[in-house]
Order: sequence, then structure tokens, then C-alpha cells
Amino acid sequence: MKFTSKHVFFLLLLVVAWGLPAAAAEHPVPLPKDVQDKNCLECHEDKTKGKVVHSAIQMGCSTCHTVKTEGEATTVELVAPKNELCFTCHEKSKEQVLHKPYEQGQCTTCHDPHTSDFAKQTRAEGNQLCLACHLDRRTTDAKVKLFGSQEISDAEFQQIPKISLDPSAKFGHPMGMHPVSDYANRATGEKISCLTCHNQHASPNESLIQVAYDKNRKPVDMCDSCHLARDNAAMTAAEASIRKQEQEKQIQERMQQANKNKKDKKKGSDQP
Ligand code: HEC
Ligand code: HEC
Ligand code: HEC
Ligand code: HEC
Ligand code: HEC
Ligand code: HEC
Ligand code: HEC
Repeated sequence: MKFTSKHVFFLLLLVVAWGLPAAAAEHPVPLPKDVQDKNCLECHEDKTKGKVVHSAIQMGCSTCHTVKTEGEATTVELVAPKNELCFTCHEKSKEQVLHKPYEQGQCTTCHDPHTSDFAKQTRAEGNQLCLACHLDRRTTDAKVKLFGSQEISDAEFQQIPKISLDPSAKFGHPMGMHPVSDYANRATGEKISCLTCHNQHASPNESLIQVAYDKNRKPVDMCDSCHLARDNAAMTAAEASIRKQEQEKQIQERMQQANKNKKDKKKGSDQP
């Protein structure tokens, strides 16, 4: 077979369409060979500003991005494959049970690598982050959008275990009408959320159940951490109520006694 330029073109097309990771795409603007980290900010200052900025941004863009300029073409690639990059600085947990997207290094599905409006650079706040994958919803396309900027295949989305909640997404898991939002734990004052019961990355327990502690930092059953505290609070209230009733009873008794004494005294003084 003769290798024609048509073949080469076809091959190239295949490579572009199929093989090349997005990170190797040509940078829309050619950059000089000796470009410095500070030059990136001329156009990408937004990557360094925001409510929550990743500490690694201080170390410069080239900590994670390599810039190559050949002739007129600049490519910007990640210094390591995307699913390994974060583990170069953040050690992978050694716990027994790992959350699949964490285990597979899909950190940027949940975290913006640069900046975000939410604590720990997450892409959504609180339960919304978890429910994007774990609450069932109608999907129509081959790709499912998450948090605006991320996407996974519909097949992947359908395989993720779903939990069922009431339409307000505040009750209904792990059983009955159990709350997953709003209620404050009376022991800690913290509001219940997915992360009250689950860890987002890793846990020694099945279903990523949290290791919970009492106020003396002793590990306790996760359910007890809240329910015993609630029961304790209920006990304290009940005891206070009983004490109050007893006090009232005592006061009544004393008053009756005092009245009786008064009458007796009066009777006594009537006597000659
Ligand atoms: C003269 C302006 C300009 C400068 C300087 C610049 N960029 Fe860009 N860059 C752009 C524009 C425009 C885009 C496309 C829109 C977007 O993604 O923000 C882009 C896209 C990117 C992308 C995503 C697309 C791709 O090629 O992977 C990365 C990564 C990137 N820039 C990194 C950098 C880094 C790192 C530097 C510094 C070495 C830098 N840029 C300097 C203008 C610039
Ligand atoms: C801790 C590693 C890290 C650092 C530091 C970092 N980036 Fe990135 N950056 C990434 C990763 C990972 C992606 C790919 C995100 C994705 O595909 O979801 C990315 C993607 C981008 C993109 C394109 C996609 C987007 O989010 O808009 C631009 C532009 C970009 N980086 C610019 C910068 C600039 C400018 C700096 C320096 C101020 C910088 N980055 C520093 C890890 C980093
Ligand atoms: C070059 C080293 C480096 C790389 C690569 C890196 N980080 Fe970080 N990251 C840090 C440092 C340093 C801190 C601050 C110290 C800490 O909290 O451990 C940090 C903190 C964080 C935090 C917690 C922020 C906080 O407020 O406590 C998150 C979330 C995070 N990184 C996510 C990521 C993700 C996702 C990636 C991959 C895209 C990544 N990191 C890659 C160095 C890095
Ligand atoms: C399913 C979503 C999700 C994925 C995937 C994920 N994280 Fe997180 N991560 C979170 C949430 C939520 C928090 C905040 C927990 C909190 O507020 O207590 C967090 C917190 C962090 C922190 C702060 C310290 C800590 O452990 O609480 C770091 C660092 C971090 N993540 C790094 C990573 C890295 C590295 C990866 C990929 C290997 C990753 N995350 C994958 C959701 C995720
Ligand atoms: C990007 C999608 C995605 C997001 C966002 C996400 N998860 Fe998951 N989750 C998964 C996948 C994938 C699995 C693994 C299913 C399997 O084992 O096949 C999983 C499994 C789980 C499991 C069952 C674990 C087990 O071992 O049985 C729990 C619990 C869980 N996730 C909680 C959370 C919580 C809490 C959050 C929010 C911090 C969250 N997930 C956010 C994708 C996601
Ligand atoms: C009060 C504690 C509690 C809260 C809050 C909670 N979970 Fe769970 N979750 C559990 C327990 C216990 C299990 C394991 C028993 C079971 O499978 O029903 C579980 C199981 C799961 C599973 C695995 C289900 C399966 O079919 O394998 C997922 C996914 C999950 N939870 C996600 C979430 C998300 C998302 C939130 C927040 C909206 C959340 N959970 C809030 C206690 C809780
Ligand atoms: C953050 C605190 C908290 C944690 C942790 C917690 N619960 Fe609850 N639980 C509540 C609250 C609040 C209610 C609502 C009813 C009430 O006011 O007592 C409730 C109600 C219940 C109910 C009654 C459910 C219904 O349908 O009305 C059961 C059963 C229950 N919890 C079991 C559990 C189990 C099992 C666990 C551990 C997997 C657990 N709880 C963890 C706070 C908690």
C-alpha cells in the first residue's frame, strides 16, 4: 500500500478526534518560549482570585501546567495525567473503603483545581455536591452535566447508586423520614448533612460511614453520636421538669403547712 497524503490526513484526523487528551490541545494564543508564570495572569487572573483559592496556586501555574512552544504553536499540558496529578501532593488515603471518584483520581469532578466560591474549592455547596450524582433525575443526552463545567457519560451516571428523598431533598434517607438537612445535632450544634454520616473520600467502614467521636474524643457509634445526645438532652429536660414539679409540690406542701400552723396558732391563742 502506498502511503498518500490522504492517508496521513486521515490518520491525523483519527489521532486528533480520538487519541489526544484535551490537555494537549493547542493554546488559543501562541505564547513566547520564555513565558513566565506571571505572564499567565495577564489573561488568566481569574484563576488566582476568588473566595477560596487553592494554596498550590501560590507556587505558580507551572507547578501543574507545562507550556511548550514550537514555531507558532503553543500547547499547555498538565505535568502529570489528570487522575494522578493531585496525588503528587495529596497522599491517597489508606482506609479500607474508598469513594470511587476519589480512588480513581477524579478530584476535579468535585474540586476546582484553582478557585471556587465554596469551602475546600468544591464545585457546589453542601449536599448539592453529592446529590448531583446520587439523586435520580431525567437524563436525555449521552453526556450528563455536573456543576455546569463537568460531565460524565450517561452510562456512568446510571450506575451510581441513587438515594430517594422527598421533593425538598431534606428527608427520606437512610430510612423512613430521616432528615439529611437542616436539623442541628444537639451535641455539636452542626446541621445534619451527607457529611454528618458519610466521609467524602475514605472510611474504615462500609458505605463510607463516618467515624464519630463524643466530646471526649472517644469513638462512638455514628448513629449514637446524635441520638444519644438527643436522648441525653431529652433526659435532661425531663429531669428538669420533674425537679420543677417536685419543687412546686414542696412549695405547696410548705404553704399548706404554714396555713395549718397559722390556724393552729390562732386556735391556741383562743384558748384561755
Ligand atoms: C494573551 C493571553 C493569554 C496568556 C498570556 C495565557 N493564556 Fe491561556 N488561554 C488564553 C485564552 C483566551 C484561552 C481560551 C479561553 C480560556 O480557556 O480561558 C486560554 C486557555 C488556556 C488553557 C485551556 C486550553 C488549553 O490550551 O489547555 C490553559 C490550560 C491555559 N490557557 C493555560 C495558560 C498558562 C499556564 C499560561 C501561562 C504560561 C497562559 N495560559 C497564558 C489566553 C492566554
Ligand atoms: C494544582 C494544580 C494546578 C495549578 C497550580 C494550576 N492549574 Fe490550571 N488546571 C489544573 C487542572 C487539573 C486543570 C484541568 C481541569 C479540568 O479538566 O477539569 C486545569 C485547567 C486550567 C485551565 C482550563 C480549564 C479551566 O478551568 O478554565 C486554565 C485556563 C488554567 N488551568 C490556567 C491556570 C493558570 C493561569 C494557573 C496559574 C495561576 C493554573 N492554571 C494553575 C491544575 C492546576
Ligand atoms: C504542588 C502541590 C499540590 C498539588 C499538585 C495539588 N495540591 Fe491541593 N494543596 C496543596 C497545598 C500545599 C495545600 C494546603 C495545605 C493543605 O491543606 O494540605 C493544598 C490544599 C488543598 C485543598 C484544601 C484546601 C483547604 O482550604 O484546606 C484541596 C481541596 C486541594 N488541595 C485539592 C487539590 C486538588 C483537587 C488537586 C489536583 C487538581 C490538588 N489539590 C493538587 C498542594 C497541592
Ligand atoms: C465526591 C466529591 C469529591 C471527590 C471526588 C474528591 N473530594 Fe476532596 N473533598 C470533598 C469535600 C465535600 C470536601 C470537604 C469536606 C468537609 O467539608 O469536611 C473535600 C475536602 C478535601 C480536602 C481538604 C482536607 C480534607 O480531607 O478534608 C482535600 C485536600 C481534598 N478534598 C483533596 C481531594 C483530592 C486530592 C481528591 C482526588 C484524589 C479529592 N479530594 C476528591 C469532595 C470530594
Ligand atoms: C461524580 C459523581 C459523584 C459525586 C459528586 C458523589 N459520588 Fe458518591 N459515588 C459515586 C460513585 C461512582 C460511587 C461508586 C458506585 C460503585 O461502587 O459502583 C459512589 C458511591 C457512594 C457511596 C456508597 C459507597 C459504598 O462503598 O457503598 C456513598 C455512601 C457515597 N457515594 C456518598 C457520597 C457523598 C456523601 C457525596 C458528596 C460528598 C458523594 N457521594 C458525591 C459518584 C459520586
Ligand atoms: C443519618 C445518617 C445518614 C445521612 C445524613 C446520609 N446517609 Fe447515606 N447512608 C447512611 C447509611 C447508614 C447507609 C447504609 C445503609 C443503606 O444502604 O441504606 C447509607 C448509604 C448511602 C449510599 C449507598 C446506597 C446504596 O444503595 O448502596 C449512598 C449513595 C448514600 N448513602 C448517599 C448519601 C447522600 C448523598 C447523603 C446526603 C444527601 C446521605 N447519604 C446522607 C446514612 C446516612
Ligand atoms: C445529626 C444527627 C443524627 C444522626 C447522626 C442520626 N440521626 Fe436519626 N434522627 C435525627 C433526627 C433529627 C431525626 C428526626 C426525628 C426526631 O426529631 O427525633 C431522626 C430520626 C430517626 C429515626 C426515626 C425516623 C423516621 O422515619 O421518623 C430513626 C429510626 C433514626 N433516626 C435512626 C438513625 C440511625 C440508624 C442513624 C445512623 C445510621 C441515625 N439515625 C443517625 C438525627 C440524627
